[in-house]
Amino acid sequence: MTAEHSPLLDHCPATLPAAAYYDAGWYAREQRGIWHREWVYAGRLNDLPKGKMRPLTVGGAGVILCRSPEGDVTAYHNTCRHRGSELCRAEQPLGKTIRCPYHAWSYAAADGRLLSTAHATPTEDFIKADNGLYPVAVTQWNGFIFLNIAESPTPFAPDLGLAAYDNWPMADLVTGHRVVRDLACNWKVFWENYNECLHCPGIHPELSDLVPVYREGIMSEPERPGWTPGAPTGHALKEGAVTWTLDGQPCGPTFPNLTETERKTAANFVTIYPTAFIVAHLDYARIVSLVPTGPETTRLTAEWLFSPATLAQEGFDPAKVAAFATIVLDQDAEAAEMNQRGLKSPRYGSGRLMPQEFDIHRFHGWVLDRLKDN
Ligand code: FES
Ligand SMILES: [Fe+2]
Repeated sequence: MTAEHSPLLDHCPATLPAAAYYDAGWYAREQRGIWHREWVYAGRLNDLPKGKMRPLTVGGAGVILCRSPEGDVTAYHNTCRHRGSELCRAEQPLGKTIRCPYHAWSYAAADGRLLSTAHATPTEDFIKADNGLYPVAVTQWNGFIFLNIAESPTPFAPDLGLAAYDNWPMADLVTGHRVVRDLACNWKVFWENYNECLHCPGIHPELSDLVPVYREGIMSEPERPGWTPGAPTGHALKEGAVTWTLDGQPCGPTFPNLTETERKTAANFVTIYPTAFIVAHLDYARIVSLVPTGPETTRLTAEWLFSPATLAQEGFDPAKVAAFATIVLDQDAEAAEMNQRGLKSPRYGSGRLMPQEFDIHRFHGWVLDRLKDN
């Protein structure tokens, strides 16, 4: 048995079965039970211009994300109530109405009401008020937009982990750099890799150099045998480094309202299953989001967010700041693809989690819980 305050598992549970990572039926159940029900990251408000709409995909469903000329954000299923045509094929200007490109029915952009059936004249049995666009729920949190395609969405509830971001000017940050990778792995393989650091010493030499605790294959001090509550926690960096950059130095003015603990922690993570994690440093922030594109493929997007003052610095190069985390991200991507190939061995039925993989165990519970009725 491990000590009461230790997060380490007191046994070695089985992983999910191998089929969870490639079986089309399992994937379809996850689309229904998870991606159609949970909040999904849809970009930064700062990156959605006023008076624009754009198509995107949530849980395999086409959605239109709209921002009115006044700045209001709404979203609808990308399907016309007439005969189901797609309404929006590419980012385009948005005024007061959304017009179907097929037979020109038009809907109010503000609330999806059907305004006109164009050249068609319906008979009396057709009730206009019953034929508005299907709405999609929208939440904004710290300048991040999230969508939920469920008919009765659960409340948006990120796992606040080490940070609530109240002391970061998160909503004002601007996207300065973006990396997109198509990974040959199931989306859960990405999350499992995110949830443990046993791979850090072998896979991430640069990161393990910056964050000493990672050299031991653990994520934080409480995992160390003999740690007692109240003793320091967090991702303290090596001597002389204050942030996650190649030289450990800030890329611009640091955020002024952070607490001493937030500055010292250096990497303040918030996890939002199944869609994204955010990490905020004392000088910049990053969001990494994923979209399953098939049972064995996942599109990953990383966005680096900076204050306008940092971006305005003479000669500032966001790609240089992003270089550090991009090295780590590419190492993780390679590991995830290697993991995916290996678990397709006909001899692999399922594996075993080690005590340090408590967050993976929790993640597996989270997934299974949502598949119960599916
Ligand atoms: S399908 Fe949209 S107007 Fe006909
Ligand atoms: Fe990693």
